[in-house]
Formats: sequence, C-alpha cells, structure tokens
Amino acid sequence: MQTTITQTFQSHFSTVPLLAFAPGRINLIGEHTDYQEGFVFPAAVEQGIWVAIQKNGLTVCRLYSLDFDQEFSFELDAFSPKKGHWATYVMGMVALLQQAGYQITGFDMVIGGNIPVGSGLSSSAALSVAIGTSISGLFGFQVPKKSIALYGQKSEHLFAGVKCGIMDQYASAFGVKGKALLLDCRSNSHEEVPAEFGEYSLILVNSKVKHSLADTAYNKRREACEESVRILAKHYPGIKTLRDIPLEDLEKVENLLPAELYPKAKHLITEIARVHLAGKALKSGELQTFGTLLKASHASLSKDYEVSCEELDFLAETSWKIDGVLGSRMMGGGFGGCTLNLVKTSEIAIFEKKIEAAYLEKFGIIPDFIPVKIGSGSSILEEISLAD
Ligand code: GLA
Repeated sequence: MQTTITQTFQSHFSTVPLLAFAPGRINLIGEHTDYQEGFVFPAAVEQGIWVAIQKNGLTVCRLYSLDFDQEFSFELDAFSPKKGHWATYVMGMVALLQQAGYQITGFDMVIGGNIPVGSGLSSSAALSVAIGTSISGLFGFQVPKKSIALYGQKSEHLFAGVKCGIMDQYASAFGVKGKALLLDCRSNSHEEVPAEFGEYSLILVNSKVKHSLADTAYNKRREACEESVRILAKHYPGIKTLRDIPLEDLEKVENLLPAELYPKAKHLITEIARVHLAGKALKSGELQTFGTLLKASHASLSKDYEVSCEELDFLAETSWKIDGVLGSRMMGGGFGGCTLNLVKTSEIAIFEKKIEAAYLEKFGIIPDFIPVKIGSGSSILEEISLAD
C-alpha cells in the first residue's frame, strides 16, 4: 500500500512525498459512552489510511483519492467543505488547523487505504487523523496527537454532521501495537492494557449492511442522554453527564426519568460499569468473564439503547451458540457494520463456516471475516524515494 501511494503520488505530481499513516480501530467494549464522558476500550488495527503529501509552492491544494480514482482541488483562501465528499475531510482539517493559527501553504496529496468500507472500523476517523498528521509533519507544526484527534472529531461534527465522541480519532492517534486503550473520555487520557487473549482470538464479522438512519439515530441517542442529564441534574446537583450517576442508583434513576429515556440512560450507566469490569478481567486473564461482558454489552445496545439491527442481533446471537465462542457483540455506532467475536483460535474455521451458512440462509448475504491484529497509532513514515 505504502509503495502504491508513493508511486501514485510521484506519477501525479513528480515530487517525492512525505507519507503519513493512521489506522482504523476496534472497540472491545464501552459503546456509545464516549460522548457522555464515559470509559471506552478501543485499539488500533493494522488496516488504515495512508496520505502522501508535499508542498507545491502554490496557493492551491491538489488532491487525488486512489479509492475513488478522483481528483479535487481547492484554493486555500476560499473553500467550503460539503457533506458527503471525501475531500471534505481534507478541507475540514485544513480549516480547523488554519483557525488554530497554523499557516498552511499549497500542497499536493494522495490518499489511499485498506479499511473495508462500511465495516465500522472508523475509516473516516483514520482519514482525518492521517490528514492532520501529514500536514503537521509536512509543515513541521508538531501538532500534539490529542489536538489532531480533537480536530478530527470537530471536523466530523461540523462537516459530516455526526456528533461523534472522541474514541475513534483518539484510538487512531494513540494506538499501540498489541495493546488496548482504557480511555477516560472525560480527561481524554488512557491506560494501555496488553490485549492478550491466550488461546482465543478476536475476529470481526462484517454484516455488510449499513442502514441509512444511522447518523440521525446516533445524534438522537446523544440528545436523549443530554435530556436525561438535564432532568437528573435537578436531583443530582453538579452532575455533568450520565457518567456521574452511580450504578447502585439505577432504580432511583428509573423513578426519575420518563419511560422512553430510562433504558437509554440505563445503557450508559451499565456500559460504563462493564468497561471497568472488562478492564479488570482482561488484566487478570479472566476471559470467560470478559466474554460474558461482551454479550451483556450487546444485549444492552440492542434492547435498551436500540442501536442494533436484525442482522447484527442475528450474528451476535448465532455466535453465542457456537462452541469455542466466549463472547460476541455489535461494535461501533450500530445499525450495521461488524460484530466483534472472541473465538477459540482452533475453532475459527468452524466458526466461520457456521456463521456464513446461517447468515447466508437468513439474509442472502455472505459476511466477511476480518481477523483483528492490534497495530500502532498514527505516524509519519519514512520518506521513500523510488529512484533509490
Ligand atoms: C462511532 C463514534 C464514536 C462512538 C461509537 C459508539 O464510532 O464515532 O465516537 O460514539 O460510534 O461507541
């Protein structure tokens, strides 16, 4: 991939680029808690986005996307990011860096990646982080990783219309090979936990569906949480988010909230507790417990938070019944994408066969299986000169 991007850059622009990389992410547990300042447990994957970049001495930015086989250019002093176009991610990051006072001059850029589209591995977060890393590297800005992650999140809010949390961009920036990040989304700081699963392995099953209501539903869930906080604040002075409500108070919360809000708040409060338990379980090698928490997370996301769908429920519930599976749950924003499965390594071939047959019979779709390897976060890669 690295060589393809560099070669493409050289044939388009005839200069030697700087190369940046940012990975996609998985999330072990802690779904839909980041935007309530909760805890999440993501890790970077090896798949990601590569960005080749070089100054062009102009006032224009000239872009080429390998995946879309499309060119795009914009003037640095007059551009308007529009929702739904890949170049918006570049313009979004440029706009936010400019606003922060960084002086960007014209550049050429080639973008390419190997994250399966729509899989829920957060290709858009990887894209923003890779772009931010490449621009920072090219101009010597040394923008801190945390700022790049925050600009990526803001760009998503402003230009893609999704009011996402910080998890995806943070994991893409800070990922460490072989480690999961126990991330506190209030302080935006993390603890690295070795992702050691012994004779078990993580494998994603891509449902290959993406239901269109996803973005609207995502924003609505976020609003529901904020509404619950407004109501609960009358009884819990000083709370900022649902993170501040103790698990022991669930019953009290049920009495205080309207019937339609309570299950959503319950998901948040119980899921944050599950992240802590999962962190403990992983650290002490209690994989059965870890797997049970994955199942509970899925049930909560599906029944209480209502961000699953028929296909994801089917994949998770079918997995639970297969020998050698410790846990399975939907991963990411929901309404499609992948399930995350913890499966005995020696049973993976049988697992895949069973899931494929069942899913094909029920939905007429052959799912994809993506083994997870936990990789490193964003970085500038060595400059490669193809002339050498
Ligand atoms: C998406 C968002 C994240 C997070 C997850 C759900 O991936 O980008 O911020 O909220 O959904 O956990």
